[in-house]
Amino acid sequence: MKIEYIDNNLQDIKADLELIVVVDKNLEHKSCIEYKDILNNAAFNAEQDEVILLPESRKIFVGSESLKSKDIRPAVATAIRVASSKKYKSIKLATYLSHQKCTATVRALAEAINLGVYNYTRYKTKDRELNLKKVIISSQEHNGKDVDKAAIKRAITKGIETSVAVNLTRDIVNTPPDDFYPKIMARVAKDIASTENLECNILNRSDIKNEKMGALLAVARASSHPPRVIHISYKPKNTKTVISIIGKGLTYDSGGLSLKPSDYMVTMKSDKSGGAAVIGIMQAVSRLNLPIEVHGFIGAVENMIGGNAYKPDDVLTAKDGTTIEVRNTDAEGRLVLADMLCYAQEKVNANYIIDLATLTGACVVGLGHYTIGIMGNNEKIIDKMLYAGNIASNEMAAKLPFNKYLKKSLNSKIADICNISNTRYGGAITAGLFLDKFIKKENKQKWLHLDIAGPAFVEHEWGENPYGSSGAGVRIVTRFIEKLADTKHEE
Ligand code: BES
Ligand code: ZN
Ligand code: ZN
Repeated sequence: MKIEYIDNNLQDIKADLELIVVVDKNLEHKSCIEYKDILNNAAFNAEQDEVILLPESRKIFVGSESLKSKDIRPAVATAIRVASSKKYKSIKLATYLSHQKCTATVRALAEAINLGVYNYTRYKTKDRELNLKKVIISSQEHNGKDVDKAAIKRAITKGIETSVAVNLTRDIVNTPPDDFYPKIMARVAKDIASTENLECNILNRSDIKNEKMGALLAVARASSHPPRVIHISYKPKNTKTVISIIGKGLTYDSGGLSLKPSDYMVTMKSDKSGGAAVIGIMQAVSRLNLPIEVHGFIGAVENMIGGNAYKPDDVLTAKDGTTIEVRNTDAEGRLVLADMLCYAQEKVNANYIIDLATLTGACVVGLGHYTIGIMGNNEKIIDKMLYAGNIASNEMAAKLPFNKYLKKSLNSKIADICNISNTRYGGAITAGLFLDKFIKKENKQKWLHLDIAGPAFVEHEWGENPYGSSGAGVRIVTRFIEKLADTKHEE
């Protein structure tokens, strides 16, 4: 599906359908006044994301609370989703700006088109082809505002690159576990690296043994699919800022011997969402040509049961020598990440270290399905990430505060730390505090943990997101990196 920007008035552009965003609930805007009676009769109230298709007039209207990106992105995505489920081959729409000189809305528009049209059809035997081939954005602004065409074009390109990366992540996450195991994760990473001209290094089981990653190896042991450690790097010239992103890539999480109940096991193919987001982010930063050195690390592992499975009561030794008492094999993500964080810190001296993981059900309980939990020791970078999420990219995020009392709940009688806490409460935070144990003293202030368990995979459509994987983490982290590129690195 192509998105084109055409320097022409809307009426001079040919398309099967015209998409109109309606902010004025009285339907008096010039773009819809002509249809006011029909829309009223059809009880169209222009509520946020409310869609009405008028086939005879070849128009599709969608309500939006405002022209801000946070409203226009889900509205346009929803309208595109409806239109693309019909036989229309092309759609046109105007340029929308919330105010002069601000191209955020246009970027959101371009993102919305690709995000809305996404549908995971790989395993459908019928109707796999997308009818919609082209969406055309006219240079005519919806409210007649003057536009800086070059700036708009750049914003559209950014929106396209970002959303293509989100859709890549969605495809990875949605792929069933029998067709997507650690070796495949490594292959996909290699493929992306070669098309994007990135470096890529893969460790197999014996390389991982040499690295002494005892925690990751224990989680991987009972699977017939051996683990992989993936390191992809993007190294533009003349950069001072370096960032490492580490993703939890559990291609399946059965829970291990602390087996998940069947209802909780379905959807656990999505436990690779952090790793999949890392691949998407690497593609996005490279296509956006960001002047920041970015290192992506993925611990790709399958958590299974078997005669050689790791057990509750085992004591593991992580890469940095820390001993871990296992009390629940379903708290495996933190074990994999512990070794991955050690590896990333040894390999790269980064200014920022960010991990992404579908780490805890507790985060979903606390924040609900749609919000990322952000944790860390540095309020300033937490705030930067909250801005990148809630304001810049409109991926919702909230801070979960660390505290010294919860830290004690991970104490072990026989090892350095336990892999679960001794309290039922605050599970997202105690998981974050477990990871903190593996962050070197000199890096404590540089690190952020993003728990994406809520938004990564949802079994219904929401806003710009389809059923299944949302590609959570790609937009927020890409925006965070973009912002670093704009503002000089501060120590
Ligand atoms: N992958 C799960 C967390 C998860 C749950 C992600 C729901 C997405 C949706 C993780 O490995 C896990 O099982 N965590 C346990 C930790 C517990 C044993 C301390 C959990 O959250 O129940
Ligand atoms: Zn688990
Ligand atoms: Zn897991």
